[in-house]
Amino acid sequence: MSAPSLFRRTSDFEIVPLTVEDCADASALHAQGFRRPWSDGEISALLHQEPVFGFIARRPGNGWNSSAGGFVLARLVEDEAEILTIVVRPRNRRAGLGWRLMGAVLRQLRAEGAASLFLEVDEANREAVALYRKLGFDTVAERAAYYDHDGGARSTALVMRLNLG
Ligand SMILES: CC(C)(COP(=O)(O)OP(=O)(O)OC[C@H]1O[C@@H](n2cnc3c(N)ncnc32)[C@H](O)[C@@H]1OP(=O)(O)O)[C@@H](O)C(=O)NCCC(=O)NCCS
Repeated sequence: MSAPSLFRRTSDFEIVPLTVEDCADASALHAQGFRRPWSDGEISALLHQEPVFGFIARRPGNGWNSSAGGFVLARLVEDEAEILTIVVRPRNRRAGLGWRLMGAVLRQLRAEGAASLFLEVDEANREAVALYRKLGFDTVAERAAYYDHDGGARSTALVMRLNLG
């Protein structure tokens, strides 16, 4: 079996609740998805807020391949929820992990009676927008020139919503 196909196999990942012990791994993952990575302290501080919860994709065991494949953080206040961040390790992308992480969030939110889930995404982020559309999110607002990029370019933020009722 070639290395790339091994890395892309995601059925052996388990999606488990994110705990403070996972924050260093989560921070390392975040740095692989965003220009301004969140430190483990920032992620830990978020997790200590009562309405914040998350999931991490882990391979069981302690071997070289037991590392985390991605994580998601969300917040539920009253019946309205928000995705704070989601990232999948580049070598594990496009193999269903993002979908499974979002699925775990949606199950928990439905179990807790949430009515809607919001998120904000750069309209230029093709992968993420495609994931959210596939999950059924609709664009409810746009914020022009919201994200700044290297070289001074700016792009629009889409505010997307999924009705959970
Ligand atoms: C967005 C992200 C989390 C998606 O994770 P992923 O594990 O690769 O996504 P999945 O494999 O579960 O894909 C699920 C669906 O999303 C869409 N999608 C994901 N990646 C895509 C791509 N590169 N091109 C087109 N569609 C894509 C597809 O509809 C896909 O379903 P399909 O494979 O049956 O066609 C991942 O690309 C990532 O970590 N990006 C960097 C961080 C980031 O931008 N986070 C979102 C910020 S709002």
